Amino acid sequence: MSDNPVGSPMNQDLANRDSQVDLEKRNFLLATSAVGALGAAAVAVPFVKSMTPSERAKAAGAPVEVDISKIEPGTMLTAEWRGQPVWIINRTDEMTAELAKHNDQLSDPACEVTSQQPNYCKNANRSIKPNVAVIVGICTHLGCSPTAKLQANGDMGESWTGGFFCPCHGSKFDLAGRVFKGSPAPINLVVPPHKYLADNTLLIGVDTEEKA
Ligand code: FES
Repeated sequence: MSDNPVGSPMNQDLANRDSQVDLEKRNFLLATSAVGALGAAAVAVPFVKSMTPSERAKAAGAPVEVDISKIEPGTMLTAEWRGQPVWIINRTDEMTAELAKHNDQLSDPACEVTSQQPNYCKNANRSIKPNVAVIVGICTHLGCSPTAKLQANGDMGESWTGGFFCPCHGSKFDLAGRVFKGSPAPINLVVPPHKYLADNTLLIGVDTEEKA
């Protein structure tokens, strides 16, 4: 027979001490987890603060302003908008003239697929200014980024008049981003919304106001 029967004053005392220890343990655990959370927040805040306001705005898809004054004729610049490359090509007069000459080789020469360009670029050059093309550099087949092959002939063969070649599955596009027949890409490259703030200042991500 036990010397300390259940319910005796000694057992009651032991039970009270146990619950006091449990309470202290619980408070300690709550306090340390709160410190842990504060520590995580303290680490996270400097990371967010390290981005400048313009970087945060860009990351969220804000319009991107681009100075196009330094793009030599016959060359291009790649900007970034919404995490995508956007090509700005300064076409020479010869390049622009060439666009009208190979319509019969294109899948959609007249830009009938309206999702691929804004209305104000549904024209022979697919652009606002005849010589400046603005094109999202993502292939409409499976999303690779095509390679610029701006000059005629070269390693693309004698019939090549300048454009873009997708190395993933061989799609070909002209200097207006229109897809050549026989390419795996089904439709033309995208012309993003854009407008000119000044003669050489482009804003990508905002539409040109169209006259009613
Ligand atoms: S992703 Fe460009 S051809 Fe397939």
